Amino acid sequence: MKQIIEFITAELEEAFEKAGYDRTLAKVTLSNRPDLCEFQCNGAMAGAKAYRKAPFLIAEDVVKHLKESSCLAEAEAVKPGFINLKLDREFTADFLNRMAADERLGLEEAKEPQMIIVDYGGPNVAKPLHVGHLRAAIIGESVKRLCRKMGHKVLGDVHLGDWGYQMGLIITELKKRNPELSYFDEAYEGEYPEEAPFTISELEEIYPAASAYAKEHEDYREEALHATWMLQKGHRGYAALWKHIVRISVADIKKNYERLNVDFDLWKGESDAQKYIPNMIQGFQEKGQAYLDEGALVIDVKEETDTKEIPPCLIQKSDGASLYGTTDLATLIQREEDYRPDKIIYVVDKRQEMHFIQVFRAAKKTGIVRKETELKFLGFGTMNGKDGKPFKTREGGVMRLENLIAEINAEMYQKMSESRIVDAKEAGNTSQMIGLSAIKYGDLSNQAAKDYVFDVDRFTSFEGNTGPYILYTIVRMKSILNKYQGQGGTLSGLLCTGACSDSEKALMLEACKYNAVMEAAFAEIAPHKICAYIYDLANAFNRFYHETKILTEDAGEKQKSYIALLVVTRAILESCIDVLGFDAPERM
Ligand code: ARG
Repeated sequence: MKQIIEFITAELEEAFEKAGYDRTLAKVTLSNRPDLCEFQCNGAMAGAKAYRKAPFLIAEDVVKHLKESSCLAEAEAVKPGFINLKLDREFTADFLNRMAADERLGLEEAKEPQMIIVDYGGPNVAKPLHVGHLRAAIIGESVKRLCRKMGHKVLGDVHLGDWGYQMGLIITELKKRNPELSYFDEAYEGEYPEEAPFTISELEEIYPAASAYAKEHEDYREEALHATWMLQKGHRGYAALWKHIVRISVADIKKNYERLNVDFDLWKGESDAQKYIPNMIQGFQEKGQAYLDEGALVIDVKEETDTKEIPPCLIQKSDGASLYGTTDLATLIQREEDYRPDKIIYVVDKRQEMHFIQVFRAAKKTGIVRKETELKFLGFGTMNGKDGKPFKTREGGVMRLENLIAEINAEMYQKMSESRIVDAKEAGNTSQMIGLSAIKYGDLSNQAAKDYVFDVDRFTSFEGNTGPYILYTIVRMKSILNKYQGQGGTLSGLLCTGACSDSEKALMLEACKYNAVMEAAFAEIAPHKICAYIYDLANAFNRFYHETKILTEDAGEKQKSYIALLVVTRAILESCIDVLGFDAPERM
């Protein structure tokens, strides 16, 4: 379906033309004076110079040709030359009815679906997930769903950090603690045990212990680096240990993501890209794309138009070790071979921006990805505490993700039990759903690139611009619709008729914007636009609800129209929160 603004634009274009002006002047926008009108066109002002005529006179000429308009109820020329527009009530109702009749609510499917990979999450194996991973998961999940909603083929890839120094550290620490294990016996030729020699909680204790010890002890650090190197060279025992580490850690990571309603199509990691590296490097050298700089292999990625210094992309250190960028380039080869993506979106902390500039340029320059492949970095800002500093536990430590979620859920559970609307069992489930909406909406309602303050009290409030407020609004609609059905009404086959009140008209107008909002959010990869929209929509509904007797209205045509409006509004809200990555309960 066309966007509502496109219908209006078409009529204005025609009116400009009939009045003897250039039709391209007919640009329509949402009104910035909602008290006066719903849409506006400033084309008369823009054309004043070319036509050497007062803008107001042009506006008057145009408006004359809008009298017969099928979608506008009012078109008024106001000084100095604005054209103020109000939608026709019947047209608006009809637009909504067409949305309601379409299972995609009027959102057109991409005509040429793209293959899009969203690289997000980026957890590091054997290290606990902490709040730093929260944004990557929440934003990435929503970006993936948004692309999918538009009809593209989308794969979410977790891109595990499973190949670095942390592996060498863990192996070294295990060896120190249990030197007798067969993994460390160089003469051992048998099969290694199926069972890992550690549990997840031991693993989580081992990593920080080893990491801290290595910082203080040079020889230990050397050993860990050597173990990393041996693992990467294919040491049998270390490879077996590595598998245990990955398996146990990934099982735990999956549990955490499940709690967040985040799931990945691909569980690939840095390790999967390693086998592409030798050939890739050979290719760079043969084609003269990389050169040696003080023993290290680098690719120049400077461009003439750069306003700041972009250092070369490091491919290989002088000791032969590959780096973060090397792995990302090799991963691109793998993705190109397996999926030939049209677009890859990286949802990663914005402090890694330089890394991605280098990788993207190196990938294009060396031809690893096609010219037309779009590589997009969606960098997010830091999640801060109320003190404005990066979010910490009360004790000042790094907050583990599961503890943060548990804290929010407890807060929600408390509220749920106080309200006594649901019994204890339901309260558990419901508080998790609302808790998730609090966390996700709190994050997504901010522009991704900006830092934001994680404020538990504000995010969990049922009032204001919060996830729980949105859910509360949806639950209110569900409850009205249930009661309506309880009174014998049915929800299907109902049609909206022209609005009878300002609040009804305002709600209808908001509802009509759905496809435009989704298209804009996708074009800019901006989930916060969806949040802003559903907040406006929820507010418009609540105003309508407070001013209208929906259920006590005589069961006539008007009531049916109200119910039809509720049905479509609920569908829009549910579609939007689905893209944001959370759901609404039945009651709260
Ligand atoms: N594991 C990385 C980190 O914790 C994030 C990975 C981001 N994705 C990528 N393709 N480099 O910083």
